[in-house]
Amino acid sequence: MSKVTVVGAGNVGATCANVLAFNEVADEVIMLDVKEGVSEGKAMDMMQTAQLLGFDSTLVGCTNDYAKTANSDVVVITSGIPRKPGMTREELIGVNAGIVKTVAENALKYSPNAILVVISNPMDTMTYLALKSLGLPKNRIIGMGGALDSSRFKYYLSQALGCNANEVEGLVIGGHGDTTMIPLTRLATYKGTPVSTLLSAEKLEEVVKATMVGGATLTGLLGTSAWYAPGAAGAYVVESIIHNQKKLVPCSVALEGEYGQSDICIGVPVILGKNGVESIVDLNLNADEKALFTKSAEAVRKTNDVLKEINVL
Ligand code: 2OP
Repeated sequence: MSKVTVVGAGNVGATCANVLAFNEVADEVIMLDVKEGVSEGKAMDMMQTAQLLGFDSTLVGCTNDYAKTANSDVVVITSGIPRKPGMTREELIGVNAGIVKTVAENALKYSPNAILVVISNPMDTMTYLALKSLGLPKNRIIGMGGALDSSRFKYYLSQALGCNANEVEGLVIGGHGDTTMIPLTRLATYKGTPVSTLLSAEKLEEVVKATMVGGATLTGLLGTSAWYAPGAAGAYVVESIIHNQKKLVPCSVALEGEYGQSDICIGVPVILGKNGVESIVDLNLNADEKALFTKSAEAVRKTNDVLKEINVL
């Protein structure tokens, strides 16, 4: 019996739970929210699609009742406020830090062996907060940002190439921020052919820029943060863990010397399996990419410092 809890039944959490159930990633998916009735209602609505869509996973909603989440294999944290147009992810820290810490502590009381997948923003800093405050081994704390950013990168590449997004390979590393993420164009391929041989330098630069502000573009269109791709990216990370798929996915994880960084959670390619982070993959970055990564880490660290200023760490 596999069990996944999604904390926060807003747009992102509900989408993540929906994808988890629809794809039968876990036998049981629990949605927990602080708003009375919301997760119960969404779970019931989704369960009424089970016959139509043909899935057998069970969805259960609950209002702040952590006992119902007991013995989850994975806990996904989506709690907190989303961005409004014009806001950066980093501006959410004051509100979201306290929420994420409380949620994680509560969830771990009932699922002491769970792997945590952090989606709440600013995602790298919330992942770092979980790492520093919970005392869990580092392989059990994973921020999902790179999975989402890489999917957006592949979308924009496929648009530029006029091809199927599933036939494009690409990784985004670094922070999950409008100015901190690093789409690795040099390593991106279309069916094994480097995209740098198929697209002009200008076109590639456009793809990079569009990817970096991918979340902000959607926030502008929607009036709030995106949810379909963020929710699906969370489910993708969970699936590789629950089914021990050993997929290579860029995620925000604790570094201890890898990529020249320590005491930070930031996006790097990792292998995801039943232990969470099975290993960190060491990409052979060139000097420019290394410099971008160092700059990105500096920016993430600056946001992490706020945790101390607001006394959450
Ligand atoms: C995004 O990039 C919500 O951070 C998420 O859309």
